[in-house]
Amino acid sequence: MNDRIVRMASSLLLLCLFCLGSVKAGKLLVVPSDGSHWTGMRPLVEELGRRGNQVVVVIPEASLSMGPSEHTTTLTYPVPYTKTQLQEQVNAGVTTLTSTDLSTDLARFQSFINTMDLLNVLITRNAEGLLSNKTLMKKLQDYNFDAILTDPFEPVGAIAGEYLSIPAIYIQTSHPCGVDALASQCPIPASYVPQAFTHFTDRMNFWQRSVNLARTLFQPMACRRMFARADEIASHVLQRKTSMVEIMSRAALWFVHSDFAFTFPHPLMPNMIIVGGMDSKKANPLSQVFS
Ligand SMILES: *[C@@H]1O[C@H](CO)[C@@H](O)[C@H](O)[C@H]1NC(C)=O
Repeated sequence: MNDRIVRMASSLLLLCLFCLGSVKAGKLLVVPSDGSHWTGMRPLVEELGRRGNQVVVVIPEASLSMGPSEHTTTLTYPVPYTKTQLQEQVNAGVTTLTSTDLSTDLARFQSFINTMDLLNVLITRNAEGLLSNKTLMKKLQDYNFDAILTDPFEPVGAIAGEYLSIPAIYIQTSHPCGVDALASQCPIPASYVPQAFTHFTDRMNFWQRSVNLARTLFQPMACRRMFARADEIASHVLQRKTSMVEIMSRAALWFVHSDFAFTFPHPLMPNMIIVGGMDSKKANPLSQVFS
């Protein structure tokens, strides 16, 4: 099963490289996000490097889990915090989020808004470190990359890709404010697709559908809250009034790091490709001996 998904994902990936017009090896800029985001995308990045593409990964000097990867070049940029401070900040955020009351629909809605406000600060901590580093940005420009692969969770990669005017490939699991659906104008029927944080399933009663409809209508506002700082930074860097939703609406491809075995059915746009399971290792055969 896993093997099939891996093979399917790699043929899709090849197909995508054809779409980008680079049948031969290409030059790819990678701006990953920390933690599980990086763990999920690292196998893909290393495989692209192993197949002869020039892959340059740009990461902050301090991070929880990011570091050099195989078959790639890693560039780092200074950031105004240490790994310990970052760990403390993340722990504090997790403690706040896990200690909140989630017993009612209203409490979950309140918690969702609080999460957006918390992320607003957390996801922009690296943006200025990279984007205002003129030497490094010039260096990235001189590489003449064919495309950028980045996680839309942290806006720094998306802004860098827009600044460099190269096609953007986004890879993500499930985005907190659903920016993929919003930016690509993907239909999300509120009667059938439960929004994140609602704890609903695809079978909702009338009350749940009403709450889910309110949440669906609220998504654009949620993204504005989550990306409030990012929108300002993007407007400053690109020297025009813009927003992350607008930047991401020009996505070349969305790799969705998920699988319909784990999520409720929902529509996808033609440039969205499910790649869940891609990084799974080949399973060892089961032991024939039962004890
Ligand atoms: C920019 O990044 C380089 C490393 O890529 C670093 O040596 C340099 O100090 C940075 N410049 C600033 C102004 O932070």
